Amino acid sequence: MPATLDALHADITTLAVDAIVNAAKPSLLGGGGVDGAIHRAAGPELLQACRLLDGCATGEAKLTPGFRLPARFVVHTVGPVWRGGLQGEAGLLASCYRRSLEVAAAAGARSIAFPAISTGVYGYPADAAAEVALAAVQQALPGLPGIERVRFCCFSAADLARYLALLARTPG
Ligand code: AR6
Repeated sequence: MPATLDALHADITTLAVDAIVNAAKPSLLGGGGVDGAIHRAAGPELLQACRLLDGCATGEAKLTPGFRLPARFVVHTVGPVWRGGLQGEAGLLASCYRRSLEVAAAAGARSIAFPAISTGVYGYPADAAAEVALAAVQQALPGLPGIERVRFCCFSAADLARYLALLARTPG
């Protein structure tokens, strides 16, 4: 059965999926935006677990438990900072989605929710980022049959409209 893809308007820390993805910084030691929200909701054990991971390269992903979150796991990935689009940003952003799915699948997750990685503090234009996100997920899923559900968690109505329009154009 092909995986179900959907988009919803929510705070990602409230979602009862197997894994939520954090748009982190390379140190993995917390920050603002979705990173701050996830650390607040998961509790101080999350920072302790992140300290043991020795950081994360841009485009890579690392796993921790979800601690006090409804999600069993947090996949921490580091998106690219937008520098105009000619510095490999699209490839790095696609890698975030692919590696997050791979890391979650390896841990046995069947459902996963993504925020719009890099589109806040890191400045990636939202329309272009959503296209990269959806294409990367669709390319990775056939190789990861354990993943049954991918949710694009949108923090604004504008982001939700953007993802719904993209999903409506998507075959299957
Ligand atoms: N649930 C879902 N999405 C959220 C939430 C939430 N609770 N809060 C914010 N967003 P950003 P980045 C959306 O800035 O651009 C941090 O300080 C937000 O509206 O969180 O990858 C890290 O430590 C936007 O659409 O992440 C890094 O230093 C999206 O999440 C840096 O920011 C991403 O915005 C990473 O920047």
